[in-house]
Amino acid sequence: MGTNYFFLLLFFLALTCAPLLVSGDTTEEPAAAGQDADSGELAATPEEAQRMEEKAREREKYRKKGLNFIKSLMTDNTEKGKTERVKNIRFLLRNHESDQWIALKNDASDASLVWNEGGKVKVIMHGWTPLTWKVSAEIITDQFQIGEAYTNSSQDINAIVVDWTCLSKEPAPKYFRAAASTKFAGEAVGNFLVKLSELGLIKEWNDVHLIGFSLGGHVAGVAGYTVLNKTNSKVGRITGLDPAGPSFDYNGELPPDRTKVLDKEDAEFVDIIHCNMGALVDMGKRVGGRFGSTVQAGHADFYPNGGSRQPGCSFLAEKKGCSHTACNEYFRDSISRPMPACPCKSWEDFQGKLCECTEETGGVNMGEPCQTKFDFKN
Ligand SMILES: *[C@@H]1O[C@H](CO)[C@@H](O)[C@H](O)[C@H]1NC(C)=O
Ligand SMILES: *[C@@H]1O[C@H](CO)[C@@H](O)[C@H](O)[C@H]1NC(C)=O
Repeated sequence: MGTNYFFLLLFFLALTCAPLLVSGDTTEEPAAAGQDADSGELAATPEEAQRMEEKAREREKYRKKGLNFIKSLMTDNTEKGKTERVKNIRFLLRNHESDQWIALKNDASDASLVWNEGGKVKVIMHGWTPLTWKVSAEIITDQFQIGEAYTNSSQDINAIVVDWTCLSKEPAPKYFRAAASTKFAGEAVGNFLVKLSELGLIKEWNDVHLIGFSLGGHVAGVAGYTVLNKTNSKVGRITGLDPAGPSFDYNGELPPDRTKVLDKEDAEFVDIIHCNMGALVDMGKRVGGRFGSTVQAGHADFYPNGGSRQPGCSFLAEKKGCSHTACNEYFRDSISRPMPACPCKSWEDFQGKLCECTEETGGVNMGEPCQTKFDFKN
């Protein structure tokens, strides 16, 4: 790869990769008075400082309101009906032997007919599919594209796309119902994987890689936890593609019940790519709500372009999740081309060119090639 190419990518996909920031001391410092928490902007005058403080207070009020709203919806979550809907989850397999997507039986009893023995297992999960969102079909297409990119590659892969729209399809005001369903979908995926293992198709749990977008990130977390609970083994890897924030990001912290959320206990290696992190209820800001979790919950967390907004996403496009879904594209592309990332303490350090980003100093590729925590040199 030519040098120019390397730096061009680096520019667009400038990341802070914080594999070692795994202890409890990773929370961001609160913004100083007179400093805008999101932009880091400093006030020029006392009046400006006061205005900014007021804005910050207002924003905090909205955040709290949002959290209470979420709680009220979560307590209304009944399990009735969901166990029925779980039966409609579909597992679609594709590999070099079957050059198309094949729907497997939910008990995996027919999987051996089309299984690629010796192939690694990639399980790919979509997010919320709001009924009213015109792009909902495209969102699932992203998952099929990731699977296709794997089967296009020379890697020996069994790619499985999980269609859990039977649980994720909820009208816009009912997002939180879809969020509460991730537990059921995740358990179903975990049980399916345990069956594949009992059938001898999964030989090593280390060969299993779960890739979940948005709510699908938490589906992957629950699936990993279910495998651990039932087999006492962890799957090799989970990649969270902008794991959903609302319902799972408690003001920058993981919720008390970690079994329902993606965190680094759910797999041997958890890498997370943040594309649209921030508050959903954020009326004080012109950019509107964001969908991704701000929690640094992996062994390695990547922040392309700062992790909140992606280039080319207009205000209107953001309403359809432009920055959020960019994570799917980054991951898909990472299967066929390197996306160099650079370990940095903060985005500001990166922009100030205070981080060394060469292979010798611990640079790593984001996405598919970032395989284990041992990829990180420092
Ligand atoms: C996979 O390969 C086919 C045929 O070359 C191509 O049309 C398709 O766009 C590729 N898909 C992805 C996701 O790379
Ligand atoms: C497995 O799940 C059951 C039921 O939720 C729970 O009681 C048990 O503690 C879990 N076991 C492990 C090892 O986490």
